[in-house]
Amino acid sequence: MFENMPWGKRNRLASIVAPDGHALMLAIDHGYFMGPTTGMEKPASAIAPLVSYIDSLMLSPGILTSCVPSDFRKGIVLRASGGNTILDPDIDNEELILDAAEAVKLNASAVAVSVFIGSEHGHRTIMNLTEMVNAASKLNLPVLGVTAVGKALKDKKEKRYLAHASRICAELGADVVKTYYCEGFEEVVAKCPVPIVVAGGPKLNTDKDVLELCFNAIQCGAIGVDMGRNVWQAAYPEAVIAGVRGILHENLNVTQALELVESLKSKKTKRIELFSETRDE
Ligand code: 5RP
Repeated sequence: MFENMPWGKRNRLASIVAPDGHALMLAIDHGYFMGPTTGMEKPASAIAPLVSYIDSLMLSPGILTSCVPSDFRKGIVLRASGGNTILDPDIDNEELILDAAEAVKLNASAVAVSVFIGSEHGHRTIMNLTEMVNAASKLNLPVLGVTAVGKALKDKKEKRYLAHASRICAELGADVVKTYYCEGFEEVVAKCPVPIVVAGGPKLNTDKDVLELCFNAIQCGAIGVDMGRNVWQAAYPEAVIAGVRGILHENLNVTQALELVESLKSKKTKRIELFSETRDE
């Protein structure tokens, strides 16, 4: 999949993509624009039971250094764009918040830059991606292009838009693209020449919905998921991540993965609502 890349880049990508070609990335970067959102108020304790199931963690640099032990051995995907929050009219007015050399100092396996294509600040965000691709290339640091939507683009989670946005990330040099799953997703994958991982999006109604999203995305050609809220906002986060892992790395179908999730619920800890006033929107 990454054969033609330099060794350093391939080595970094190997900590994100497992030998079976699939990638289970746990996204916990939401605080960069949402603050202490439900389920991620205390990142260190939220991720502790989940780490053994994942290939990599996607997070902001400050949460890496403050909440992740320095003997962490999984892949590290650092959020490198940001600048607005949910208290602003929209979140698309981003700039680069981390430079490539700083990411390498933090032993990042990759950096993630969001693009909000077609939004008010879309051009700026595309330039953020190109700037990072050029800087990261000098360090053999892979770049994850993230097709973000925000408020203005929230109705754009459909194949024509997502194919457009994903392809542009690939055209500009992203090594892997993160986008949303949608109906006809195989077309999004087919039109994007680099591997795709899917975000989970806001919390779905049931664990089965989450597993179906993962299974269908893989069937359509995604290499994996970069999923957050549907894991750590679940009633039983560890059971859900085990099910997701089952689909990605153990060839389970949805029924089998759901059986695994249900069987683990009695053995794994239920998520406790820590605070009643967390702001999610
Ligand atoms: C926010 C992000 C998130 O990492 C991404 O949306 C994945 O998380 P979730 O599965 O909760 O949507 O990049 O911009």
